[in-house]
Amino acid sequence: MTLTEFLDQVHLLRDHAAQHIDAVSTLEDWTTLRNRIVGRKSGRLSELLAILPTLPADDRRTAGAALNAVKLAIEEQLEQRRALLAKAAATAKSLDLTMPGRDPWCGAVHPVTLVIDEIVAIFREIGFTIALGPEAESDWYNFGALNFPPNHPAMDLHDTLYLEGGSLLRTHTSPVQVRTMQQYRPPIRVLAPGRVYRRDFFDATHAPAFEQIEGLAIDEGISFSDLKATLSYFARRFYGGATRTRFGPSFFPFTEPSAQMDVEVDLGDGRGKRWIEIMGTGLVHPAVIEAAGLDSERWSGWAFGMGPGRIAMSRYGLPDIRLLYDSDVRFLAQFAVC
Ligand code: DAH
Repeated sequence: MTLTEFLDQVHLLRDHAAQHIDAVSTLEDWTTLRNRIVGRKSGRLSELLAILPTLPADDRRTAGAALNAVKLAIEEQLEQRRALLAKAAATAKSLDLTMPGRDPWCGAVHPVTLVIDEIVAIFREIGFTIALGPEAESDWYNFGALNFPPNHPAMDLHDTLYLEGGSLLRTHTSPVQVRTMQQYRPPIRVLAPGRVYRRDFFDATHAPAFEQIEGLAIDEGISFSDLKATLSYFARRFYGGATRTRFGPSFFPFTEPSAQMDVEVDLGDGRGKRWIEIMGTGLVHPAVIEAAGLDSERWSGWAFGMGPGRIAMSRYGLPDIRLLYDSDVRFLAQFAVC
């Protein structure tokens, strides 16, 4: 090989190397390319270096200097490219701390359960415990023991599903009164929350399956003033210190006298304070106490029944009770504390 031919090869390598180094886009390709150009064993540079001793002695100096200059230039370009690719790879993989975090899902207690828990907590403080009863109930517990005469029109409000075998879906939590009196000796102070069923249309204020909370206090010498004092205390605890209550006459077969309790509250709907009914109540009818096997001459008591769904509507300003049954996460998430 002549000097000119050798120098042509060296310059060709310089130009090709520059092109390929610029084009390489991953560190992997970069390594392959580097081996092809400057690799000790089979790199193009080593091949030219091996030719050097075969050149005429006088030309070796010039040829060697040219090859060395190109080698240094290539090595510098390779290093610059490597640094660039390494930096790009590092930034791509690293954590981007400016990226907003993902909102975690957060479970929430249903608003009706919130209300039940709050009511239960208030009554627990004054000595009430929790009692539960079955949702598939017998006719006797649901009606007979509660002093509904057979075919009494009061039952029209309590139409429900009758199950095979003679039981029915309970229409109220009042049967738990009788079950509790049968099971425990007085004095009794219980709260019985639970689900009840009625043939009601599903509209803004009714649901065919809903929650109730029953209350029952049985002891010696209990009177209507115990009822008024306890329930007014509850209303002040639940709705706020100055909340007024009033009792109006009502009718239930299982209480005598029967009453409804209203509370004066601001529902936050811009209409100011007004009276809303929150429960039915009364002194437990002696016939109910007797049906449960207790002596009504000795024991007396009072009871109440309220709907935590309706109470949740008043507490949270809900215009439609169906919101409580839709299971719409956008609605329910408003009650999440997280
Ligand atoms: N059980 C009645 C109902 O479902 C509510 C009720 C009224 C319960 C008066 C009581 C009571 O314990 O004393 O409509």
